[in-house]
Amino acid sequence: MDSIRVRAPATTANMGAGFDVCGMALSEPFDEFVISKSDAWAVTNETACRAATDVDKSVFAFVWKAMREKFGLPGSLSIVCRKGIKPSAGMGSSASEASATAFAVNELFQLGLTRDELVFWAGYGEAFTAGQPHYDNVAPAVLGGVTVTYSTHPLKVKRLDAPDLACMLVISEKTKPSTAFARSVLPESVPRKDALANQFTLAKLLVGLYGRDAALVADSLDDRIVEPARSKADILPHLIELKDVARQHGFGAAASGAGPTLICMGTEKSDTLGNAVTSLYASNGLKTQLVWTTPSAQGVHGV
Ligand code: HSE
Repeated sequence: MDSIRVRAPATTANMGAGFDVCGMALSEPFDEFVISKSDAWAVTNETACRAATDVDKSVFAFVWKAMREKFGLPGSLSIVCRKGIKPSAGMGSSASEASATAFAVNELFQLGLTRDELVFWAGYGEAFTAGQPHYDNVAPAVLGGVTVTYSTHPLKVKRLDAPDLACMLVISEKTKPSTAFARSVLPESVPRKDALANQFTLAKLLVGLYGRDAALVADSLDDRIVEPARSKADILPHLIELKDVARQHGFGAAASGAGPTLICMGTEKSDTLGNAVTSLYASNGLKTQLVWTTPSAQGVHGV
């Protein structure tokens, strides 16, 4: 096989208090790539939404170079991108590119790697964008469902089937400086009461995830550490007000990864929530796009 067409899902990381630990694959949006063996490196974009093409700034290249070196692979890759996931927005655009590269290289060169091993290799793409590897986007992008990363050295990830959630992505026109910047604003130490509150919230989230209890998961999307620091740094637009509006409609709300996209989760799609959120952002002079989606059981796969 010299070429493969691959689809990779958007992902939402953190899910409240699960910073770097919890993530979920989404059925919409998604990216598609045609990845081929080639003599020279080439990335081309077919959509207005674009992946970086420069070999020094490309998530694809970081994953490829790491795998090429480890497995002694010949040649290079040529990648045609049809991106549906807005880059640098908190929906796992980099993780999609990283997981697609790891998946395609495994297929094209018949490396026989397991899905769990692909998560490790896809992590090289996150190390490039965020300054260090974190797996809460790449794990669900590779494995689908919900993932809980419970060790990084060695890497250990548990995949769970996701609860039946209705999710609404709140994508604003605001841009985020970079994931590395969004991580640089986080505190080095935190008050004990906030650490303790987050422990209980994360426990509640995990109980909800293990029980596939959508209502409990939706009620668990709080965080006293990461979201407040990023809100203060003006990275998460009106998240505090969004949480209030969501709660009034029986939903929870959280930052999606490092933002600026935010996500509301509940048990059933709600147009009244959508209208209330549109009004909230309009009254603050911000244009938003709302995308209703659901968890995806499937991670990156050939199409
Ligand atoms: N857990 C990561 C963060 C996800 O919040 O920085 C970003 O992709």
